Amino acid sequence: MAYNCLETETDDRVQIIRLSRPEALNAFNNELMNELTDALKAADADPKISCIIITGSEKAFAAGADIKEMADKTATEAYLEDFITSNWEQVTRTRKPVIAAVAGYALGGGCELAMMCDFIIAADNAKFGQPEITIGAIPGAGGTQRLARFIGKSKAMDMCLTGRMMGAEEAERCGLVSRVVPKAELMDTAIEVAKKIAGYSRPVSMMVKEAVNRAFETTLAEGVLFERRLFYSVFATEDQKEGMKAFIEKREPNFKDA
Ligand code: HXC
Repeated sequence: MAYNCLETETDDRVQIIRLSRPEALNAFNNELMNELTDALKAADADPKISCIIITGSEKAFAAGADIKEMADKTATEAYLEDFITSNWEQVTRTRKPVIAAVAGYALGGGCELAMMCDFIIAADNAKFGQPEITIGAIPGAGGTQRLARFIGKSKAMDMCLTGRMMGAEEAERCGLVSRVVPKAELMDTAIEVAKKIAGYSRPVSMMVKEAVNRAFETTLAEGVLFERRLFYSVFATEDQKEGMKAFIEKREPNFKDA
């Protein structure tokens, strides 16, 4: 499928989706978000794909929602077109693991999109921020909520109220990103990590994702119960039998996604 604002590539069982609007530092206009929604749906439905990477360029993961497209929008238009909800949230609806590989700017909606992914691998030049306040707005794609959950109230308030940027090192220190690598190694690392995940049983990796995400939506007791139900259900998979048998027989498992 050909896209105007994305480049897509598969590497083994990994789908790479590269945001590509270089003239606007990958700012999210409607076309880009609609294409991203399509690409994510296609990857989620593709039985040959087990893990997805969303990335940008070396200069920008994404500089946020497209300010030029948004500037004159009315509240009624935003409401009627279901602005944000109609396409941005496909990332959170994607059931296969999604990694954000972030180099350069991840600002506003760019930071929010990265946080919708399951985890973030950052290049050492990555810069995160919620600068909406500097243009008379507030985060609108979950930034206030996810940032507060991921890095705590104090830092989230600092970021959203001052609009400052946070470098990769600080982002790792406060738990926003899972690892930081030199810029030149970002994609190799992200692909290596994605292939590792894709090498496991797909239904099991999807259950892991579902269970961890539940932690952000429910009480501890309910979350533990949810995890327990999923844990019991892995015993219904052939891959659990194969995985444990392979361990006992001291060999590599041969998962069948079954
Ligand atoms: C539209 C953008 C853009 C954006 C950059 N550009 N960010 N266009 N929307 N969010 C365009 C610039 O207008 C410029 O186009 C070109 O990209 C290069 O940008 P420069 O500013 O010249 O680059 P630089 O000096 O390197 O500065 C980079 C930057 C700066 C620090 C990232 O571009 C910047 O501050 N951008 C805005 C960041 C921001 O406020 N994001 C939050 C948006 S609101 P021309 O044509 O002039 O060359 C948001 C709300 C989300 O995300 C809520 C959910 C929808």
